Amino acid sequence: MGREQHRVHGDRRRFEVLADYIAARYENRVRYVADVAGGQGLLSRQLSKRGYESEVVDPRGWVRRGVDSRSEAFDSTMADYYDLIVGLHPDEATRAVAQAAVVRPAILIPCCNFWTDERLGRDGLLDAIEESYRASGVRFERVTFDFRGPKNVGIVSEPPAGADEP
Ligand SMILES: C[S@@+](CC[C@H](N)C(=O)[O-])C[C@H]1O[C@@H](n2cnc3c(N)ncnc32)[C@H](O)[C@@H]1O
Repeated sequence: MGREQHRVHGDRRRFEVLADYIAARYENRVRYVADVAGGQGLLSRQLSKRGYESEVVDPRGWVRRGVDSRSEAFDSTMADYYDLIVGLHPDEATRAVAQAAVVRPAILIPCCNFWTDERLGRDGLLDAIEESYRASGVRFERVTFDFRGPKNVGIVSEPPAGADEP
């Protein structure tokens, strides 16, 4: 298997679809993007094609050539450095992305339940994360993205009003 042919699970279109969404929604309001749990960096690649400076933050440290990355676990205290936090199927980083949503615009598209010990399906997991957003004043909407489901539903959010003002 060649260097550019590593297996990618799920619908490969998710990277392009999400990058298009980000470009359409934020335009030039954001520049630095944290691609949390970005794996090989396929989302970051799509974002840099659209003019964003996107960096993978993932302890796996296995990104494709030319993709900026930090080989470490994401922690919400890192959020200040970025304009937008994106967690596309972020697994163990799900809670840290949700915590970062309190201080930065964020997109969280959860995959498996790394939120609680109880069994939660897709919608139950989204409900639980949204409940925590409500509790901390994070403003959010649920968005269904145009790639193959069921893990194609996410939460697009803005921090509580006034949170990012000096
Ligand atoms: C299901 S993969 C998703 C990769 C990519 N976002 C995608 O959609 O193909 C989950 C990723 O989460 C990363 N990960 C696990 N714990 C993490 C943490 N604490 N902080 C950042 N990334 C983490 C793993 O290394 C893995 O690359």
